Amino acid sequence: MARSETPSALVTGAARGIGRAIAARLAGDGWSVHMVDLDDELHAHADGLMNGGVRAYVADVADAAAVDRVVSAVERSDGRLDGLVANAGIMHRAPIEDLEPAHWDRVLAVNLTSTFLLARRARGLLAATRGGIVTIGSTRAHMSEPDTEAYAASKGGLVALTHALAVSLGPAIRVNCVSPGWIDTGAETLTGEDHAQHPAGRVGTPADVAALVAYLLGEESRFVTGAEWVVDGGMTRKMIYV
Ligand SMILES: NC(=O)c1ccc[n+]([C@@H]2O[C@H](COP(=O)([O-])OP(=O)(O)OC[C@H]3O[C@@H](n4cnc5c(N)ncnc54)[C@H](O)[C@@H]3O)[C@@H](O)[C@H]2O)c1
Repeated sequence: MARSETPSALVTGAARGIGRAIAARLAGDGWSVHMVDLDDELHAHADGLMNGGVRAYVADVADAAAVDRVVSAVERSDGRLDGLVANAGIMHRAPIEDLEPAHWDRVLAVNLTSTFLLARRARGLLAATRGGIVTIGSTRAHMSEPDTEAYAASKGGLVALTHALAVSLGPAIRVNCVSPGWIDTGAETLTGEDHAQHPAGRVGTPADVAALVAYLLGEESRFVTGAEWVVDGGMTRKMIYV
């Protein structure tokens, strides 16, 4: 199978929000981008990216067979994989008495197990290019609002999985976690107070996260692995007593 000259990236959860911004950033930087999402709106966004190399796959990243199909398709198409961005994630907010084991299992499967499945399937391709994995965690790995047990546990697990993978798969593959704080994906209307409470003076944007992901997949971060990178405008460093 022919190996493309262009570096290739796989971005999950790319139909909207942060994943879509990461896919757009990498496409703009000249990567061949493979976008994965459960939502078939994905195709419209892939068509909208001004880069002939963008491809879209509707798949559930929590399903090992689907992960295998997607990575095999990338292999057939580009003959290489240089970057894997495990971004797909879901939140199920419920008081613990209403948090059914099935809900817990689904959140863990989508947010955490999927990353293990992707890394396991893609590791040979990534090692061949001395590529990188970026997992998308959350500051909720370290701090919580009520009724978010499954999500917080999944993101805490992702931080730990990141350093475990970095140690197991290095030096051929670098693995880093980006943990966003509050990122405006257009899902809510923001107030001046929402912005002002951040030490950086504003809520984050998907492009803020995408810029860091691009750095972590690039040549300039070759000495960086196993680390968690918090992108939260300083909120987790701000002491609050009310
Ligand atoms: N937006 C924030 O403030 C914020 C903060 C911290 C962490 N994060 C994390 O960043 C990532 C992206 O967040 P977002 O705000 O852009 O979310 P979003 O809900 O806007 O987008 C997530 C995408 O993932 C897709 N997805 C969900 N389950 C999937 C599955 N099983 N297989 C394939 N695709 C699936 C969804 O269809 C959706 O397109 C998530 O992991 C989230 O936990 C977001």
